[in-house]
Amino acid sequence: MEKTYLMIKPDGVQRNVMGEIITRFEQKGFQLLAAKFTVLSKEQAEKHYEEHKEKPFFGELIDFITSGPVFAMVWEGDNIIEISRMMIGKTNPADALPGTIRGDFAAHMSLNIIHGSDSNESAAREIENIFNESELVSYEKTLASWI
Ligand code: PPS
Repeated sequence: MEKTYLMIKPDGVQRNVMGEIITRFEQKGFQLLAAKFTVLSKEQAEKHYEEHKEKPFFGELIDFITSGPVFAMVWEGDNIIEISRMMIGKTNPADALPGTIRGDFAAHMSLNIIHGSDSNESAAREIENIFNESELVSYEKTLASWI
């Protein structure tokens, strides 16, 4: 089983699409392990985006991601990193297809609603930046065997 870090960004919170986004991942069959509604510190934001620190938009990215609450989540599932990136859609909303989260809800490059890890290494680093190991809840879905 693979884990990923998904984060509804401040614009996603402001746009009232948190429930819709969570529903998509639930309905796909992925399992939520942890969630936190929080405002990232500058240190957490810089660690989260450390691979982009040389990019010209880095300062703007940090200001934006710390500008309001985010909904940080850890999800688990088979091949979840690749599949969740497909469900999220391309970084530039102009390239994001309808049916993807960005294709359906985003219209601006920096206001693109949600972040998803792009590799196992990124996921581990991004999860550890926000969650303690003890905050990840593993459980079995037993309802399916009842119905
Ligand atoms: S990605 O997601 O790594 O494939 O895409 P990348 O183009 O490398 O972008 C990295 C993150 O930076 C955000 N981004 C920008 N923010 C503000 N202005 C501009 N011009 C811009 N270009 C890219 C982009 O949304 C990525 O954020 P995350 O949270 O990883 O999606």
